[in-house]
Amino acid sequence: MKKVLKIILTIVLFIFIGIQFYQPALNVDNGQVYTTDFTQAYKMPVQVKAMFQTSCYDCHSNNTNYVWYDYVQPARTLVENHIKNAKEDLNFNEWGIYSNRKQERLLNSIKEQIETKQMPLSSYTIMHKKAKLNDEQIKVLTNWLKEQE
Ligand code: HEC
Repeated sequence: MKKVLKIILTIVLFIFIGIQFYQPALNVDNGQVYTTDFTQAYKMPVQVKAMFQTSCYDCHSNNTNYVWYDYVQPARTLVENHIKNAKEDLNFNEWGIYSNRKQERLLNSIKEQIETKQMPLSSYTIMHKKAKLNDEQIKVLTNWLKEQE
């Protein structure tokens, strides 16, 4: 029995090491400045801007602030898939390129996602406490979003 366990653990260890060799491209832009950024498109209080950047930009922009375990597989792939899906729906860096219709639809969707606490994703805020929005912050953000309608 002990021998079987050893063999299994060895196989698991090798698989774990093996998958580390697969490293998808990082979502980093080396400090590029975007004239099309969401924060440039509207007048917004500094704290509103900071909340969007802290709670949303890791997934919804071209630059993610990675933490060490993001580099370890299989987290690496999960994180990169989240970012890819998130950016396909909404990339705050590219806000200015979107049509008026799309911007209107997204503003509504952003408000709804924040109001219903679906965003930022809970699987993310478990590890990123600063990104979690409390009720007061949610109120500030949704009020600001309503003013933009
Ligand atoms: C951990 C990554 C992550 C973070 C952080 C995050 N999102 Fe998302 N977001 C996603 C993913 C992934 C999707 C794609 C839909 C899905 O798979 O649920 C998405 C979808 C959305 C959508 C739907 C877009 C549409 O087509 O209507 C909106 C709006 C949105 N997010 C807003 C936000 C806002 C606002 C924040 C910050 C308060 C935020 N997200 C933070 C990952 C994230």
